[in-house]
Amino acid sequence: MAADVLLEVQAVGHVYADDSHGLADCSLAICRGSRNALLGANGSGKTTLLLHLNGLLQPSSGCIRIDGQPLDYSRGGLAALRRRVGLVFQNPDRQLFSANVFEDVSFGPLNLGLDEASVRARVAQALAAVGMAGQAERPVHHLSFGQKKRACIAGVLAMQPELLLLDEPMAGLDPGMQDDLLRVLDDLAARGISIVLATHDVDFAYGWADDIHLLAAGRCTASFAAAQLPLQEAALRAAGQPLPAVVTLHQALVAHGALPAGPVPRGMPQLLALLAMPAAAEDGMNETARASQRSAA
Ligand SMILES: Nc1ncnc2c1ncn2[C@@H]1O[C@H](COP(=O)(O)OP(=O)(O)OP(=O)(O)O)[C@@H](O)[C@H]1O
Ligand SMILES: [Mg+2]
Repeated sequence: MAADVLLEVQAVGHVYADDSHGLADCSLAICRGSRNALLGANGSGKTTLLLHLNGLLQPSSGCIRIDGQPLDYSRGGLAALRRRVGLVFQNPDRQLFSANVFEDVSFGPLNLGLDEASVRARVAQALAAVGMAGQAERPVHHLSFGQKKRACIAGVLAMQPELLLLDEPMAGLDPGMQDDLLRVLDDLAARGISIVLATHDVDFAYGWADDIHLLAAGRCTASFAAAQLPLQEAALRAAGQPLPAVVTLHQALVAHGALPAGPVPRGMPQLLALLAMPAAAEDGMNETARASQRSAA
């Protein structure tokens, strides 16, 4: 096991009670301090895998290790695991169960047996981290969907996990809320918290992740550094994923001589910045493009 591997999923299969296969021979590794996207189509096994990573589901076959040790599914073992690995469900109504925000976010720390002052400090810190300071007394059922999502994340952060699992966190958020959530995730990553996020949005995964794990039919069919994604077109296609729009656009601009061949930008702002560099565009112009420009003039 490489020293920086935090969690390892080794040939894990999961068969649900109705005989559906949620995972089948699924293997991947999550490195300490990295941002990971689990990328796959509907039904590919993303949620099932996340539920395994904090012990809510157990493998029917195979093994999951943390720091090289198989997960301990005893009551004490699971409590210890969930202090280290926090899961934010896709649907906040599945996660929030208290009357107000403070009660909800304080539930985990109280269960750790912390004294009242420490609990209050953790709640305040977690709410500030998600931009909800000052909303502690609000009834949960008065919150908007996006605020409920943040309250869920705060509840998990209050446990001070080293690995944060998020199931489709951007779903249902407007662009402003998505940007806010991205800033929250950036702050957490900067503090060294490892993140695993399930998504079917290839553009987002390419722009955000360090490592991408492709899921198809319950298997991880490829793991690669996000920067290498442009070389993974066949694997993406096999998993039902298109290339990110920015990669397709960059390829077209290079083919038409509008940009020099070179590293593919990870998002539209970087691509627009490349296009705004006249020298780069001029250098990239191939002879055909120059000729057609000359004949048009
Ligand atoms: N509770 C369950 N009982 C039976 N089968 C299930 C259950 N939950 C999931 N499955 C099956 O397991 C497979 C993987 O489902 P999962 O929910 O993990 O996929 P997903 O990648 O999260 O999909 P989505 O993008 O739609 O959320 C699917 O075939 C699904 O039908
Ligand atoms: Mg899911």
